[in-house]
Amino acid sequence: MARYAHLAGWGMCVPDHILTNDDLSRIVDTSDEWIRTRTGIRERHIVNEKTETTSSLAVKAARAALEVADLSPRQVDMIIVATVTPDYPFPATACLVQDALGAAHASAFDLNAGCSGFVYGLNVGSSLITGGQADYVLVIGAETLSRITDWNDRDTCVLFGDGAGAVVLAASQISGGVRATVLGADGSGGDLLMLPAGGSRHPASQQTVSDGLHFIHMKGREVFRFATRVMPQATREVAERAGWTLDEVSLIIPHQANDRIIQSSAKRLKLPPERVFTNLERYGNTSAASIPIALCEAVEQGRIEPDDRVILVSFGAGLTWAAAAVEWSMPLPVKPVPWWRVLFSHLRYRWAWLRSFARRALRKLAVILLGPAEGNGWLARLRTHRDR
Ligand code: ACO
Repeated sequence: MARYAHLAGWGMCVPDHILTNDDLSRIVDTSDEWIRTRTGIRERHIVNEKTETTSSLAVKAARAALEVADLSPRQVDMIIVATVTPDYPFPATACLVQDALGAAHASAFDLNAGCSGFVYGLNVGSSLITGGQADYVLVIGAETLSRITDWNDRDTCVLFGDGAGAVVLAASQISGGVRATVLGADGSGGDLLMLPAGGSRHPASQQTVSDGLHFIHMKGREVFRFATRVMPQATREVAERAGWTLDEVSLIIPHQANDRIIQSSAKRLKLPPERVFTNLERYGNTSAASIPIALCEAVEQGRIEPDDRVILVSFGAGLTWAAAAVEWSMPLPVKPVPWWRVLFSHLRYRWAWLRSFARRALRKLAVILLGPAEGNGWLARLRTHRDR
């Protein structure tokens, strides 16, 4: 029997702190006017360096998505975190999220496809569901780009922001959900948008730090040209794969990088502005988080209705591009969560924290009692002493 992957839950999280264009004009030689006319961005949200990370934003977005889906974290089979700003190179941010949620039965991994990562994640998650390997997959796009931004470089620092968005993909035999995806890559453009150091090519050293190689490096004009070419192309291709005409598409949710890129793509596709969703003026480019954040806001603003056909389309570092055709199947508006479920969720996440704490403690205790290798721990020594 055919299986479909539906978007059953969605949630987002952005940091409280807002950095406006005027704030930026006090840091670098720029102006609100330049940023707004060249990019469409007015402000962006920035994490608190001490208290917020990519995983902490991802966890909050994931919890909200699970709440909408009315799903326990223990039912989740897989967690995919799309990010270019993981908490660490390893372990994967997805594993930190899995632990914080108490998603005890979920496998977890990170996916790096630049800003296209979230749509790549939808492709992987929906394929696992339609192939019968998973029933529930949590796909998260989460970024703290402010942590890899050179705040002295006006070419890049005006563009990016922090945030996270998540969706729950759920298996169903009812037709709908993710109907088609298109993924692409062109590594010959890898140098156009990169973080040069911190990997095996240029491991972190005093030199790489002083050369500013741990910040985003971007050739803006080339990326712009690439984006205006692939966005309409991927949109057309995914509509064709889903068997839709563009006239049948209710809403396009493009990657929120630059309003000029979005408008140019819409013009090429002959789409009126009301069928293209934008919110980048308030968030800037949040890379892999931009599409799920926009999706959440489109739902909240009543721009998506049941049975609507929606296309998500992105481009990013790699270079990569990706598009997904989604048939919206969830009833809207979402009913408010009753107080007892809020309380129950709170207790569940406290329990997840306790579970994690206990597992860490037990692991330490096992090494003390049994030793790092079989038979040389404290218990073994006690036994030897007793037998003598
Ligand atoms: N404030 C004022 N002036 C500026 C600023 C700034 N913040 N930044 C650049 N300028 C100046 C430049 O120095 C240049 O001056 P010059 O003519 O004297 O040399 C002038 O403005 C024009 O610069 P351009 O680079 O030609 O400006 P452009 O119109 O191309 O806009 C931008 C630059 C906004 C970066 C654009 O190229 C762009 O959006 N590119 C795509 C970037 C993008 O989407 N990246 C994200 C990819 S997704 C991912 O995976 C993270």
